[in-house]
Amino acid sequence: MTEPAPSAVTAAPALLAVESMRAGYGNIEVLHDVSIELATGTLCAIVGANGAGKTTLLMALAGIVPARSGRVRFDGAEITRLASHERVRRGLVLVPEGRRMLPGMSVEENLQVAAGARGAAGFARIEGLFDRFPILRTRRNLPAGSLSGGEQQMLAIARALAIGPAALLLDEPSMGLAPKLVDEIFSIIADERRHGTSILLVEQNARRALALADSAYVMERGRVVLSGTGAELATHRDVVAAYLGG
Ligand SMILES: Nc1ncnc2c1ncn2[C@@H]1O[C@H](COP(=O)(O)OP(=O)(O)OP(=O)(O)O)[C@@H](O)[C@H]1O
Ligand SMILES: [Mg+2]
Repeated sequence: MTEPAPSAVTAAPALLAVESMRAGYGNIEVLHDVSIELATGTLCAIVGANGAGKTTLLMALAGIVPARSGRVRFDGAEITRLASHERVRRGLVLVPEGRRMLPGMSVEENLQVAAGARGAAGFARIEGLFDRFPILRTRRNLPAGSLSGGEQQMLAIARALAIGPAALLLDEPSMGLAPKLVDEIFSIIADERRHGTSILLVEQNARRALALADSAYVMERGRVVLSGTGAELATHRDVVAAYLGG
């Protein structure tokens, strides 16, 4: 059950690879020996119960929570100790849980701040983002803090895309959204993957995430307990019983 399934996906070169990572807060170790890979141009889903350590893993990958041991490689280089802004510069971009943004700034200013990390190329991307997120165009001059939950999640994702990521780390993007908006978020994620962005997706909506995923991991209590293709895990007995309401 812990055997990673051999597949064409896992044989592709890994854009992002985590080897034996340990991380936590204060005296508490949350991640115990976690190893995962995100192959170039694929979508990898991570599912698991509350408190399993999924957010901690993404924060460690973003350089916000330090790794206590283990290694992280991204795009051919070791980044284990790299500062978080330097990871963003290299194209490893986190959309954190809870849609953090600059609430007093307008929608457009939020996008400009993010795009600014890429200079002229970043600013040139903003109109294209408004094409992909039409609701944000209609709200462009409003303070981000005045948007609905779904609109804020769109903005959080659009901000990350403004940076032009090679790899996107998404933490529960559909959380708390109405079904129609969940559909919209998942179709944006699928679309971004089709454009070639590699995506690591943490989702409470395991069914939707696994349906979209090339590869997937199940985490429990700070460890990876299962891995395989999205299709394999979507039909795995233990996954169905624990996460798919089977
Ligand atoms: N800032 C923090 N300080 C101390 N402990 C923390 C902190 N953040 C998370 N933890 C603990 O780390 C463990 C893993 O939490 P984490 O948020 O990574 O899990 P998760 O899988 O993302 O859960 P959820 O599905 O609820 O989002 C939990 O026991 C949690 O209480
Ligand atoms: Mg979490």
